[in-house]
Amino acid sequence: MEKKTFYITTPIYYPSDKLHIGHSYCTVATDAFARYKRLTGYDVMFLTGTDEHGQKIEAKAQEAGVAPQEFVDRIVCGEKGVLDLWKLMNISNDRFIRTTDDYHVKSIQRIFRKMYDKGDIYKGKYVGKYCTPCESFWTESQLVDGKCPDCGRDVVDAEEEAYFFRLSKYAEPIRKLLTETDFLQPKSRVNEMVSNFIDPGLEDLCVSRTSFTWGIPVDFDEKHVVYVWVDALSNYITALGYENDKYDDYNKYWPAVHIVGKEIVRFHSIIWPAMLMSLGEPLPKHVYGHGWLVIDGGKMSKSKGNVVDPYMLAERYSVDALRFFLLRTFPFGSDGNFTNELLVNTINNDLANDLGNLLSRSTAMVEKYFGGVLPEAQVEGPEDAGLLSAAEGLRDRYEDAMEHFAPHKALDELFKVIQRANKYIDETAPWALAKDMEANGARLARVLYNLIEVCRVAGVLLKPFIPGSCEKLFAQIGAPEAVQVWESVDVWGKMPVGTKVAKGDALFPRIDVKKELEELENLAAAAKKAAAGPQVELEPFASEEVDFDTFCKSDFRAVKVKACEAVKKSDKLLRFTLDDGTGTDRQILSGIHKYYEPETLVGKTLLAIVNLPPRKMMGQESCGMLISAVHRVDGEEKLNLIMLDDAIPAGAKMC
Ligand code: ME8
Repeated sequence: MEKKTFYITTPIYYPSDKLHIGHSYCTVATDAFARYKRLTGYDVMFLTGTDEHGQKIEAKAQEAGVAPQEFVDRIVCGEKGVLDLWKLMNISNDRFIRTTDDYHVKSIQRIFRKMYDKGDIYKGKYVGKYCTPCESFWTESQLVDGKCPDCGRDVVDAEEEAYFFRLSKYAEPIRKLLTETDFLQPKSRVNEMVSNFIDPGLEDLCVSRTSFTWGIPVDFDEKHVVYVWVDALSNYITALGYENDKYDDYNKYWPAVHIVGKEIVRFHSIIWPAMLMSLGEPLPKHVYGHGWLVIDGGKMSKSKGNVVDPYMLAERYSVDALRFFLLRTFPFGSDGNFTNELLVNTINNDLANDLGNLLSRSTAMVEKYFGGVLPEAQVEGPEDAGLLSAAEGLRDRYEDAMEHFAPHKALDELFKVIQRANKYIDETAPWALAKDMEANGARLARVLYNLIEVCRVAGVLLKPFIPGSCEKLFAQIGAPEAVQVWESVDVWGKMPVGTKVAKGDALFPRIDVKKELEELENLAAAAKKAAAGPQVELEPFASEEVDFDTFCKSDFRAVKVKACEAVKKSDKLLRFTLDDGTGTDRQILSGIHKYYEPETLVGKTLLAIVNLPPRKMMGQESCGMLISAVHRVDGEEKLNLIMLDDAIPAGAKMC
């Protein structure tokens, strides 16, 4: 029988900067949903990618002094770029789309033309407000205190000839979609969309730009590029082969479930379904608008610079610890305040203590009391009922939570059972049973068997969250593949008796909270300093004026270094033999050995003042002074000799 299909997507992220933990949050959650669906038997298509066009990227590339394509290539494919990050985070996407991919570009041109041919796109004139960072046009009435309603930043006046999409035509069908179906989730987001956007009246949407070029040209009017959101939203169908020959998966997988952050719900729940209605295509199954990770109440964002680096955290605590923390701690639909303390405590409490202890104690006791293999003779006891009833129905509760996009709830249900199992250890006191193996051996075997069963069930249900660690867990309890599957979770006692159990390394080592928090603070301070760049200090400017005639008395000349060597018994002084154009060598001593090795200066053309009175240093005469530039970086003095173009002849006067 053919498997049922399931299609799930993340937003395609802007490669305008390195991605941060907020992007990882969405991608890890979507990955968990995709893995969960695979676990339950679906043929899953999981898509993520990058949204590479638009004015913001064009401006960033210009700032960096490279062409836009090169700029995005670096951020997407470069070291520690987007692709590397998803690999590190163990993201199981089946496809990765870049909106600069040829097939996507061609599809967008066809999609645009299709809507134009239908009469849903027409040419007009755009007059309004534009938010450059968000790439969003707004009407005056949509602004909040005169600022962009999405990000709160300033907007600018904008006017241009443009194509418009008849969004207004779809207002009523969209209202129905939002209010009469479960299309948009969580339900709390529906009211916001209806009252902020539909009730005030949906206006037609400006869908082309002429003010910049980094985009997909409208093929029948090439001075226009397609509005980046029309380009971006369509990725969800072009990546399946819609209007292109690259893939042939559209009929198989569409429609999708879109997981997006709450700030782009408007695009996904109003504009995107209207575009699909215009194209005559089925609408997405669901759009789920998840909450933000915030720091001290403010959204983490690349443009604000208050971001947390997922690379650093994953390298420090392991990818699985980070994945787990993100999905266990914050209710998916709400905002969550990211703190280091929460991160470290979650790892310690849930992973090192609850799960880690259960696994290590259970496997250690099977090894210690039964040489690693449980015997068949087992006796049930009065404590079993409590554990078994806690575990009963766990799979249904977990499934219900996952089907409602509530990974935090699914994990909560599972951890209740894990905690119950740890309590069961205290209740049954296996170490006491072990004192009389003859009398209690069979009871002890049952107790340990039940504990291993909980580990097994936890292993299966944790697969979508911490896949790498689950493999280690299964290896330790010796679970064959047949009992690592979804169908086996609901049945107690699937673990075959007689398999070899072997305690391994701790899945998640305990963290010393106090020490770790201090280190994280130091790291953050260092990162902040590094991001701010080195602190350059300049010498104070002279407060006293010098009159022109006095200044003109100074005789500055180009000099060429014929020889340079360290002065004996001095660790500072260098002796220069210089050609000053007079035919007689000039000797100058300079205390710059700390900055230069003498041999590197031979042949250089330098600048010297030559009419200072001669001075004796370390018994040698110095006739003039070499001119350098000095400044301080992070408190350390830097000195650079002024080097002149070698084409300037020795003796040339500087004036
Ligand atoms: O909006 N907390 O891309 P983007 C939680 N290219 N999630 C966060 C987050 C945070 N602090 N910051 C970002 C775009 N995200 C468009 C999307 S889709 C057709 C085009 C996540 O790089 C969240 O899922 O700004 C958010 O919606 C997405 O990254 C925005 O990424």
